[in-house]
Amino acid sequence: MIEEKRKALDALDVLMQHHREVESLFSEFEYLHKNGRDATRVMEAACAEIKIHDAIENDIFYPAVSDAAGEEGIDALLDDAEDSHDEALDLIEDLEDAGADAAKRHPQFMLLIAQVKQHIMDEETELFPRVRKLEQLDLAALGSEMKARETELVAEAELAEAGEKSAQA
Ligand SMILES: [Fe+2]
Repeated sequence: MIEEKRKALDALDVLMQHHREVESLFSEFEYLHKNGRDATRVMEAACAEIKIHDAIENDIFYPAVSDAAGEEGIDALLDDAEDSHDEALDLIEDLEDAGADAAKRHPQFMLLIAQVKQHIMDEETELFPRVRKLEQLDLAALGSEMKARETELVAEAELAEAGEKSAQA
């Protein structure tokens, strides 16, 4: 198990790991909602996870792929992916604006789930197979860079959350 954790993940492994984590939070949300239980914590965790994934893809992964590919086919897929990130971030903003209003938040979160599931399918079936074929792209080095950024972003998010909690106390 420990050995498995130490094995370096390449860039696509890192992104697919994010995708699986978000999907499992969505399943948890659906389960809690179906059973009439409060899903606030799970919604917040999913939004935090999506924001980190967004930053890593937009700031590191997409630019690296675009540089290595230099061809229109992939650029069009990257444009679509960037648009789908913008839509997800807009939905998250709406959710945050809805505050504790569960009647408003539930349909908004369902929209976010649909949108993110589509993003995951598009990337994993169209973009990632093309990226894997780009010989000029060092996916292992890119994966390490993305993992390092992820560690920073998680620490920043935890600090911000701790700050919010102590401000509320
Ligand atoms: Fe993604």
